[in-house]
Amino acid sequence: MVDIIPLSSYPSYISLLPSIQTCNITNLPENYFLKYYMYHALSWPQLSFVAVVRSKSSKNGSGGGSGSVNEQYPKVVGYVLAKMEEEPADGVQHGHITSLSVMRTHRRLGIAERLMRMSQRAMAESHRAEYVSLHVRMSNTAALHLYRDTLGFEVEKIESKYYADGEDAYAMKMDLRSMWVKEDDSLSLQGEDEEKKEKKEEKKEEKKGKSVVGAGGEGEEVDEGEEVGELGKNEDKEEKEEKMVRVKVGRSLGVGDLVERNESVR
Ligand SMILES: CC(C)(COP(=O)(O)OP(=O)(O)OC[C@H]1O[C@@H](n2cnc3c(N)ncnc32)[C@H](O)[C@@H]1OP(=O)(O)O)[C@@H](O)C(=O)NCCC(=O)NCCS
Repeated sequence: MVDIIPLSSYPSYISLLPSIQTCNITNLPENYFLKYYMYHALSWPQLSFVAVVRSKSSKNGSGGGSGSVNEQYPKVVGYVLAKMEEEPADGVQHGHITSLSVMRTHRRLGIAERLMRMSQRAMAESHRAEYVSLHVRMSNTAALHLYRDTLGFEVEKIESKYYADGEDAYAMKMDLRSMWVKEDDSLSLQGEDEEKKEKKEEKKEEKKGKSVVGAGGEGEEVDEGEEVGELGKNEDKEEKEEKMVRVKVGRSLGVGDLVERNESVR
């Protein structure tokens, strides 16, 4: 069975990089130094994925001694190496597929499609990428079908003599904005708003005293109406909408203060 996992999640994923490099060398003429894989894995750990096969013998322990090695180093049968464009020429935040390949033994099983979709989703969700770009040889029919017909990429332009052997490339791109995670305003307390809210929160805490924290229905009732006045009316409205309130984090605060707590339970 083939598992597709984010490169970052695999225990000691750095040990998989040489196998990914081997997969690349086996399938493509565009090859890279190991440190380039390392650079991707360390800089954008969410964006690269690897397809691995774990041997059955390693699972049931009948591997005749080789099981534990297989378990430690599953066979890499495919990968997608991806990144965020660091200095985008168009100034638009976008992802880029550096390399994709699947071993011949495991082709036409939908592995490349899954690798691509997972990477694209991560670009949109983790980095809010507006689009993803890639280059493909004009003669690479299989990859062209995958990108254009299966995934929905469009040809942006032809880049003449893009490859070292003089072949032209299609520069392709696909919009990712429909995959963006919608920001939940009630949870994103940022910049000035966040600071203001934290200050208000602090003042309220001072007035109410620490006993309010952790009130779960028993203990003293807190009269919120009187102590916050006019300002508090808005505050109350906001509090009904937002369940979780981020507590101030500062250098002067102790570790015990670096927590989130449910302020709605009062
Ligand atoms: C291109 C490549 C990554 C596809 O991998 P794969 O796992 O076999 O692809 P999938 O099984 O996910 O196929 C998804 C779609 O891609 C297209 N496709 C894949 N292989 C194809 C082929 N040989 N001929 C035509 N279309 C093909 C099909 O549209 C397919 O959908 P379908 O199976 O429903 O018809 C693989 O052939 C490969 O590693 N090639 C060598 C390296 C390479 O060219 N990488 C791309 C560099 S830009």
